[in-house]
Formats: sequence, structure tokens, C-alpha cells
Amino acid sequence: MRIDIVTLFPELCDSFLSASILGRARAKGLFEAHCHQIRDYTRNKQKQTDDYPYGGGCGMVLYAQPIADCLRAVQAQCAAQGRARPHVVFLTAAGQPYNEETAKRLAQYDAVTLVCGHYEGIDERVIEAFGDEEISIGDYVLTGGELASLVVADSVLRLQPGVLAEEKGYQDESYWDGLLEYPQYTRPEVWEGRAVPPVLLTGDHQKIDAWRAAQSRARTRIRRPDLYERWCDTHPITDFPKWKRGENMRLVKTGEQWAAAAALFAEGRYAVCEEVFTPLYLDTLTPENCRAELLEEKRGGWAFYLHYTAGQADGMVGVCHKTGRITHLFVTSEARGKGIGAKMLEFARKKLPEHPHPTLTVLNTNTRALALYRRLKWRPAGVETVYDPAQDPTAAVYTEEWRLRYEG
Ligand code: ADE
Repeated sequence: MRIDIVTLFPELCDSFLSASILGRARAKGLFEAHCHQIRDYTRNKQKQTDDYPYGGGCGMVLYAQPIADCLRAVQAQCAAQGRARPHVVFLTAAGQPYNEETAKRLAQYDAVTLVCGHYEGIDERVIEAFGDEEISIGDYVLTGGELASLVVADSVLRLQPGVLAEEKGYQDESYWDGLLEYPQYTRPEVWEGRAVPPVLLTGDHQKIDAWRAAQSRARTRIRRPDLYERWCDTHPITDFPKWKRGENMRLVKTGEQWAAAAALFAEGRYAVCEEVFTPLYLDTLTPENCRAELLEEKRGGWAFYLHYTAGQADGMVGVCHKTGRITHLFVTSEARGKGIGAKMLEFARKKLPEHPHPTLTVLNTNTRALALYRRLKWRPAGVETVYDPAQDPTAAVYTEEWRLRYEG
């Protein structure tokens, strides 16, 4: 691949591309990089590259001719090497947001030319005439496009074969899977009282991979809900966790089972409400009250099921044949992260074959559950209830209870 940077600061750009990993790869000939001085293409004595903007306003604008001539020179150099016409990218704060997907796309070109703006901007006509696309590296304004062009160059060049030779894993298509990276640790094993997560010391690579994948998902869900939502949509759960021996679902019938369901309900609802409701409500979540509520719901047509692992109740779910609704999907804190929630939800859905689009509700603060539902093809279908502290003394923060509908 050949990268050209058209800039007022070619030395700055060149020194970056000569350092560290990229510098070594460049020296080995794994890519070619050329930085061009726009000023060299001016035709005035002062070698001025900018001019006042038409229509007034502060700042100066890079005028078209030197940039155009520089780009023609780059095109001629590429043609002389037998390369196709380079793909031309202008770096401006008004461009399309940059991300890894764009980096992957740009990495497919044989030649990419990055044009750095400076001052207040670039004459729009040269962008129109030569630009294949305009890219911004983020919602902030830089004094020039150099740093942006280096960000693009770095992220594109690291994808070239051989550039990250020691780190083959990074070349793997699945590496960037739309999730943030899991946390990394190196020696010492305990640093200032902080230990490395024990799973990383087990040598069990299946366990380590599972732990890292879970960390990536959890981080992305909390730090970048936008990315996580997209990831959930593109990674539906198709491979359901398998039912294990000693694991089953039982209809709640006996007194003991009602007591187990009430305890699960109290614990589960407390966990989802703890952050968003006041003690006025939380204090009502006793097993006795929960049992009374479940029995009342049973009279209204609900059926409840308990999930057992080796004879121990560790999950519950409720279904209503009359309305096609699912409710009270809870897993004990110890049993979380084992796929029991997903299994119970599928179980509940299959109990309602007469309802192709069952519904359920979930607090919008319960991002963990929302993520699971999304991956299981449940989609928002309106707001059921609003809990507003201004009107409701039991609400600690403004929370919405969303209705979700199965769209699988
Ligand atoms: N030039 C000035 N600000 C920029 C940004 N955010 N991205 C790309 N180029 C820029």
C-alpha cells in the first residue's frame, strides 16, 4: 500500500511514520509513505498558501491551486508506479466520523492520499474536484488536519499484512468485532495490593477466552451503549446455552415452591430496583409481600416456573396465556452469567406458542437485561410506565418501564 500525506507540515508527518512499529514496517517496505509540502506547489513569490475567505469572517482559507497541483503530482507518481488512481481523503472537522470500519475499508485501497486542512479550512471547490470522501476523527476542532491524517494513516497501516507481525491476533478479522478491548495485565502478579484476576493465571485458555469476551461485552455495555446495541443487533444469540444434566423447569405448585419463587422475586426485584427506587418502595419487597403478589397474579391467569440446578431453585419466570406476556425473569446472583436467563426466556416464549409476538416489560436502567433481550430479538414497543421522582415518592431517579415485543 502507498500512503501520501498532503500537508503544510510534511516533516512532522514523516517523523511519525518513521518511528516505532510503523517506522520498522516502512523500512522493511511493507508500505510506502510520502509526505508532500503544499507550499512547494504555490506559484507566488511569497509561497503563500492561504487567502481571505469570500464573504468575510475571521481566519484564512487554503486556496485551491497548490493543493490541486500537489494532488496531480501524487496521481502522476502513482500512475508511474502502475498503481490505480489514489483514493483521496480530506481531513476536516466537518467530515464523516471515523471508526475502525472505515479504517478497514481504506486499508483495501492500493493507494490513499490524505489531505490536511489548516487555518479556517480549504476552498470547497478543490474538495469537490478531488475528494472521494471527507473524514473527521472526532467531534472537536484541531488546528489542522495533520494529527487527523496520522490517526487515519496509523489505523489503516497497522492493518497491512506484516505490520503487526508479532501480534498475529490483531490481523484476525474477528479481533475488532465491534466491542471494546478487555483489560490486560502483565507482571507483577500483585502490584501495590492489586492482584491480576485469578482466571488469567489458570492456563485454561477456554476459560480465559470466555472471561475476556465477557469483560469486553460488559465494558462496551457500560461505556459505549451505542456500540453495544449495534453489536447485539449484529450478534443475535443463535447458539442457545444447552440445558445441562440436573437442570430443569418446574411449574410452581407446592408451598415450598411458592416460598422459593417469592424469595427469588424479592431478591431479583430488589436488585433491579435498588438504584432507582427509594426505601419507601424497597422496604415493601419482603418475601411475604412478594408471595401475596404472585398469588394475586396467579388468580389473574399467570403461571410461574422455577429453574432448578441440581435440585436447587436458582431462577424463575412467569407467563400469561391470556395476554401473551412474560414477567418476573429472575436469576439468583450466584447463578448469573451461566445463560440461565436466556434459557428461561426461551422456555417462557415457547410456553406461549399461541402468541407469536409475546411482550414483557423492563426498566430502562436494567441495561444488562435490555442487552440480553435485544440479542434474543426482543425490540422496544413503547413506554409502559414512567417513574418520576417529581410525582412519585417511591422513585429515586427518573426511570421508564419499557415494553418489549418479540420480533424473532
Ligand atoms: N481538522 C480539524 N479538526 C479535525 C477533526 N476533528 N478531524 C479531522 N480533521 C480535522
